[in-house]
Amino acid sequence: MITPWEVEGVVDYERLMKEFGIRPFSEILDKIPNPHPLMRRGVIFGHRDYERIVDAIKKGDEWAVMSGFMPSGLPHFGHKMTMDEIVWHQSMGGKAFVCIADVEARFVRGLSVEKTREFGKLYIRSIVALGLKPDNCMIYYQSSNRYVKDLAIELSSETNFSELRAVYGFNPETSLIKMFIPMIQAGDILHPQLKDFGGFKPVVVPVGADQDPHLRLTRDLANRICIFSFERIEGGVRVRSRKGESYLEKLKDLDFDLKAYEGHIDIFGDPEKIEKAVRNLEIELGGYAFIPPSSTYHKFTTGLRGGKMSSSKPESYISLFDKPEEGAKKVMRALTGGRATVEEQRRLGGIPDRCVVFELYTYHFADDKTLEEIRANCESGNLLCGQCKKQLAEIVKEFLKEFQDKAKSVDLSEFYILK
Ligand code: TRP
Ligand code: SF4
Repeated sequence: MITPWEVEGVVDYERLMKEFGIRPFSEILDKIPNPHPLMRRGVIFGHRDYERIVDAIKKGDEWAVMSGFMPSGLPHFGHKMTMDEIVWHQSMGGKAFVCIADVEARFVRGLSVEKTREFGKLYIRSIVALGLKPDNCMIYYQSSNRYVKDLAIELSSETNFSELRAVYGFNPETSLIKMFIPMIQAGDILHPQLKDFGGFKPVVVPVGADQDPHLRLTRDLANRICIFSFERIEGGVRVRSRKGESYLEKLKDLDFDLKAYEGHIDIFGDPEKIEKAVRNLEIELGGYAFIPPSSTYHKFTTGLRGGKMSSSKPESYISLFDKPEEGAKKVMRALTGGRATVEEQRRLGGIPDRCVVFELYTYHFADDKTLEEIRANCESGNLLCGQCKKQLAEIVKEFLKEFQDKAKSVDLSEFYILK
């Protein structure tokens, strides 16, 4: 069972995609100019509506990337992956919105305000050290973002208990705040499209697969809260109004061929132009005109001793703020895909696809050539785990040293940070 609050057992990504209609990322990989290594390596395995982002990149249209971090513990390599994804999307031309989910950390994890602030700072310093740029960027704490909170309130007027129960498994004993957290996250995801942030635009949300329930709900709500809805038809778009027939009248002034029916209007021409014109009209009429958010899904990071990585088990992860020597030691203790004896390993080779060390190389530390070399040497039995780990331990130690120096010295004064 996967919910945003628990991930158990081995994750079957294929099933997850089938069950919830997540598309395989491989189907759009060729369309992306210079895809990120995590995309090429299948670590980012799925998406929803990523075509919109690819289109916007190619056409030079405005778009955004947004994701969030719960400051309930030290940032670790699982978080680094999302940070790398945000930084990459920003470098591709997206506006970046970085959320420190302090409200969630307080009410789901029970942290004090002071603690969420303390951890929050480390997340901000981390993503800046990893390359986030101050231009086209906003970093904020949920508790300080009025747009997010107002949207959350507004969106809850469109949400009822049965729906939340269906998506999250809530029950009558669930507290109101726990039910409200998904509204806040929907506010996080949709607020980059508000007028004060430049209006409706494609927004991509890079996340782990456990966050998909939030995205499904947010996409539904994005549609539900808007005046007009769209359905592509032969030669154009069928437009309906969710807020009463009188709005359909207004469409008749648009500069397109159209045909009015009972309950909908068919508009003929380039569907993208039509939708844009109708969305602009909706803004004039005081609506939101949200575009349903796109998303990408990356695989979970395995805990160093197997199982899942969890911030409540320090031995299961390397924090970005662990002492470099400590990080190196954790690598040496990591579970590998090696055999029981050296003799066996020489004969049969290791299994990189079941190895935490290889996973770390794949997710964070190797270029394509190095990665292929490690795989080949591992599978042929030339490389033994002790040596392989020692090499990675050295790399991790150096990385942590450099990263922590950078994180300490980054200049945050150029950043727009809502605290
Ligand atoms: N719920 C996310 C987590 O547990 C954090 C988060 C908050 C988030 N707001 C978001 C993620 C918006 C993506 C988009 O990690
Ligand atoms: Fe993993 Fe390296 Fe051992 Fe292969 S040799 S199983 S990649 S630690």
